[in-house]
Amino acid sequence: MAKIIDGKAIAAEVISELKAETAKLASHGIVPGLAVVLVGEDPASQVYVASKEKTARELGFRSDKIVLPKDATQADLLRVVEDLNNDPGIHGILVQSPPPPQINEEAVILAIDPAKDVDCFHPFNVGKMLTGAHDGFHPCTPAGVMVLLERSGIDTAGKHAVVIGRSNIVGKPMAALLMQKGKNADATVTIVHSRTKNLAEHVARADIVVAAIGKPEFVRGDMVKEGAVVIDVGINRIADASTKSGTRLVGDCHYAECSAKASAITPVPGGVGPMTIAMLMRNTLAACRRAHGLA
Ligand code: GUN
Repeated sequence: MAKIIDGKAIAAEVISELKAETAKLASHGIVPGLAVVLVGEDPASQVYVASKEKTARELGFRSDKIVLPKDATQADLLRVVEDLNNDPGIHGILVQSPPPPQINEEAVILAIDPAKDVDCFHPFNVGKMLTGAHDGFHPCTPAGVMVLLERSGIDTAGKHAVVIGRSNIVGKPMAALLMQKGKNADATVTIVHSRTKNLAEHVARADIVVAAIGKPEFVRGDMVKEGAVVIDVGINRIADASTKSGTRLVGDCHYAECSAKASAITPVPGGVGPMTIAMLMRNTLAACRRAHGLA
């Protein structure tokens, strides 16, 4: 039976370390500021944004939430981003993805000051991450997975990691961080995706599987090598008549089947999810320290 990687507990540990650092900064009159911008009222996005705000407040950050109506224009959103770029009390800017269809997300990302790009979506920071620089940011979800592995004592050096999914938010940067030269990385990485031939054969060779495809319970037990580590990035709501709400959350992995084969596994919820928020706070604190010449 697999060891459960408790993302909630590890995220709480990270948050408590960040809280101590934030208190130290506060004694010098420095307060990290995070602005989250939401266009429209997508219910899932509202849940994420509320959770980000709550954690930022808990840490003692300044936390601004800017909600634009769902029919806001590109110019409206760019004006908000520009104001936040120019606000010295804001160190991190996050525009919740996905925006409504009238918004050109790429142009919005390019408009964010790279020094405040705590999502690590701006090509400048993506490039820095890829080249292994330490003065940029790492995207929150993949960074959270790296911390989960490290703090669970899972050695990645020389291991074969198979990342399922090639999104800009998770799959691509996940592969980049796992293959990075250095401590707690050094993995051999394969990315598989919707057009991969014999996907299951690749996954079966993995020492570490990272599932980030957004398909409920896609990874079945028979695809996973005995003793592999399974990291489930997926959060999918599926119908379940046996629950009060009629739905339940599942990951991209079939938990019961995969945990019977794996040596360690992240649950959904309570695995990768809480880490993403913890890493957003870590990035915001780093941006604040840099802005004050404390890096
Ligand atoms: N939507 C889902 N995850 C994220 C994230 O990490 N950042 C942003 N900006 N939007 C998201």
